[in-house]
Amino acid sequence: MPQPHESALVRALRGERQDRPPVWFMRQAGRSLPEYRELRVGTRMLDACLTPDLASEITLQPVRRHRVDAAVFFSDIVVPLKLAGVEVHIEPGRGPVFADPVRTASDVDRLTAIDPAAIVEAAAPVREAVQITVAELGDTPLIGFAGAPFTLAAYLVEGGPSKEHLRARGMMHADPASWHRLAGWLAQVSHAFLSVQVAAGASAVQLFDSWAGSLSPADYRAFVAPHSRAALAPLFGTVPTIHFGVGTGPILADMRLIDEGADASGRADAVGVDWRLPLDEAAAILGPDTTVQGNIDPALLTAPWDVLAAHVDDVIARGRAARAHVLNLGHGVPPETDPTVLTRIVARAHGEDG
Ligand code: CP3
Repeated sequence: MPQPHESALVRALRGERQDRPPVWFMRQAGRSLPEYRELRVGTRMLDACLTPDLASEITLQPVRRHRVDAAVFFSDIVVPLKLAGVEVHIEPGRGPVFADPVRTASDVDRLTAIDPAAIVEAAAPVREAVQITVAELGDTPLIGFAGAPFTLAAYLVEGGPSKEHLRARGMMHADPASWHRLAGWLAQVSHAFLSVQVAAGASAVQLFDSWAGSLSPADYRAFVAPHSRAALAPLFGTVPTIHFGVGTGPILADMRLIDEGADASGRADAVGVDWRLPLDEAAAILGPDTTVQGNIDPALLTAPWDVLAAHVDDVIARGRAARAHVLNLGHGVPPETDPTVLTRIVARAHGEDG
């Protein structure tokens, strides 16, 4: 049997074209599954993330049910901040909320005084959850992940979820020195969280810069991309890397995180694309050295099966324009999704849907 590092997912991320794209779903572990909702009763989100048996079981649920080609570690982008001692909780139906928003230069100084190495020391529950999960998964690869510096900052500076992330984007221009100190520190936080998962056995990683699409290309290049690269680049050449954001059409080429400077020491192996940009157009922008991931429109999960199936087939056909393709949604599984629809998409991708 192939090992996880020889799995269809890892091979596609490395650029090997296959007859059928491997498939997994962002937020496949979560509220769309009744078995998840049952397990979560009485346990707060971040407590669940830091309870190894529970986090592992939740990670495995969608693999058993849907037969996806990869597991994605059940955790959250704010977990490493909690491990660093930052006061944060996840409000159901809303998202991450911080007790003390990080808005001024002195707020940034206070936060960045924390040594990111503290995360690695406090990460025992994450390490244990990954180890249990990898042992259970056998041949199926586990994808580890982290939030990218900008997406983390979008929550931290605001103190909670926001639509246009005005405060974080404002800090870039009002106080660039503080912004770069904050984003540089967050890059170390993201990298620490990814490293812990890789060291414990994750076969690939995804950096989520979900809100990068709110930035102008100029701001993305000047204030964000160097920090995302700092988070991910130390892993280049170890496990395959995926870089994902929503609404990133105008910055898609930048999402490869190529260092135009001195020595081109690598790039993200794959770029995740949302539903707005057809994958053949994305492939033309990304070029011959990048795998594409995506991009079934989550809105179509409620359409009649023949409509959705035609859409899935179209996504797969357009994905052939890239060097390789990993089938996914354009963003996370909506909580109200009928899970049987996801199972059927997997079967279709595997050529088993009649
Ligand atoms: O994809 C997976 O299955 C792995 C688990 C995962 C979660 N969050 C679990 C979760 C991953 C990869 C994340 C990443 C994450 N968290 C992102 C980036 C991905 C994206 O969707 O763009 C972001 C922006 C967050 C922040 C966050 N955490 C939000 C916006 C929410 C939703 C709040 C809500 O209730 O609507 C969370 C909570 C969260 N993270 C849930 C899950 C399963 C829901 C918690 C619950 O079950 O009550």
